[in-house]
Amino acid sequence: MGKTSIEEIRRLKGRARLPVLTAYDYPMARLLDELEMPLILVGDSLGMVVLGYPDTTEVTMEDMEHHVRAVARARPQALIIADLPYQSYETPAQALENTHRLIRAGADGVKAEGGGRIADSIRAITAEGIPFMGHLGMLPQQIKEEGRYRIKGKTDNEERSLLQEARLLDDLGAFSIVLELVEKNVSASITKSVSSLTIGIGSGPHCDGQILVTHDLVGGFPWFTPRFVKPKIRVAESIRNAIGEWSNEVQGGSVERNS
Ligand code: KIV
Repeated sequence: MGKTSIEEIRRLKGRARLPVLTAYDYPMARLLDELEMPLILVGDSLGMVVLGYPDTTEVTMEDMEHHVRAVARARPQALIIADLPYQSYETPAQALENTHRLIRAGADGVKAEGGGRIADSIRAITAEGIPFMGHLGMLPQQIKEEGRYRIKGKTDNEERSLLQEARLLDDLGAFSIVLELVEKNVSASITKSVSSLTIGIGSGPHCDGQILVTHDLVGGFPWFTPRFVKPKIRVAESIRNAIGEWSNEVQGGSVERNS
């Protein structure tokens, strides 16, 4: 079985709901692929859950390339989509250059945040046939301007503008659009109005798919969990217990097989 194609993903619109998760390294990419996830996002959320930055604005192209390479070494059938980091797609030329860097690192496509403001950059990417994933609603790369993470689409103005931006991304050829913290009825109308697949995060159940940061789903970053996520397991707790147990064995002189 070869690489999942963008046409296969597009055909899922209205037929199946897509589960999408993030991976930043080889083992997680391999696990997600074994679980037959259709898409893997190397998100710039890696800035917080792996690199210890306060938000995504400090993530660099070099950080993204390093992690895309690790994910690509798993040779997944899943499409690898990589985030273009903060301020790396301000002009069409810059967007193209950085998209090509991520593709050379092993990505199959890229994601960028915003609509009309970055339309020329998106057009440059899709004109080359490179799979593009949009991102609307709460835009984490704008956190400094926004001041806090909040639900978008609660007012008529916001609803209208989200619908317009989603239609624009659809026209520009985005195969999918992440809707982050978008009011659930607005996500539902966007989902009905565009041919791109909508992938929701904290945006209610009516999207074509759902995406989560894998660390949030498995409790791998215990110091912060978004309000809309209920971890399925608590990996950090298991790690604490295993290490505590082993450390006690070492200190008590009872380590045998693990020495
Ligand atoms: O960076 C990321 O992981 C993302 C998802 C949360 C959608 O953009």
